[in-house]
Amino acid sequence: MLTIAVSKGRIYDDALPLLAEANIIPIDDPKTSRKLILRTNHDNVQLVIIRATDVPTFVEYGAADLGIAGKDVLIEHDSDNLYEPLDLKIACCKLMTAAPKGAPNISGRVRVATKYIKTAERYFASQGIQAEIIKLYGAMELAPLVGLADCIVDVVDTGNTLRANGLEPRELIMDISSRLVVNKASMKMKHSIIQPLIDQFEKTLAER
Ligand code: ATP
Ligand code: PRP
Repeated sequence: MLTIAVSKGRIYDDALPLLAEANIIPIDDPKTSRKLILRTNHDNVQLVIIRATDVPTFVEYGAADLGIAGKDVLIEHDSDNLYEPLDLKIACCKLMTAAPKGAPNISGRVRVATKYIKTAERYFASQGIQAEIIKLYGAMELAPLVGLADCIVDVVDTGNTLRANGLEPRELIMDISSRLVVNKASMKMKHSIIQPLIDQFEKTLAER
């Protein structure tokens, strides 16, 4: 059995065409089904539908052989035990700092709300800025509006969420896209199934 870990939503939507090119077609649809294991057109290939932040954990522990996860999530997961063979160039966005529109530039000590604790710590340290990081699990944009933080670190795509909440993007921390990750033992044990899959993904991406 080959198990592929994918999160619901944009990564699943963007992964479907890539999987289809590799002739992997889920039978169930996570939008309408409550199933967490999706069968596919192959008896020996299944998808597990999990939270985006859990994908590296499932793959690292071998609960899934392969997974698709954002680079933002992989950096936070911070493990050397994952093989990361391909940038799938899907779910592209930017990891940025953002602050209330017109607020003065960050200097001195700053309070930062984010779910990207490690990335934020490293970023502000690299800038020589003393930062107090406040861990949130969502709705980061709210934090500066209610005095919880001076700024946030979050992913930005269109900028609509920032604008809608009176914030503006400030510094780019890094460009983000989703990556294929592979369990190291699976890569050895199931090489004859996994390598052709990687090759097919690579071919599809090269043709895009
Ligand atoms: P969780 O379910 O664990 O809370 P999440 O809500 O961040 O995670 P998604 O919103 O599906 O999950 O995001 C999955 C990945 O897609 C992120 O890790 C990031 O790499 C990327 N991403 C997040 N927001 C955007 C966006 N607005 N546009 C493009 N890509 C994005
Ligand atoms: C993500 C992210 C931002 C938003 C940025 O949220 O947390 O809030 O996208 O995208 P934008 O720049 O195009 O507005 P998402 O849509 O995934 O919702 P979430 O809060 O459920 O993660």
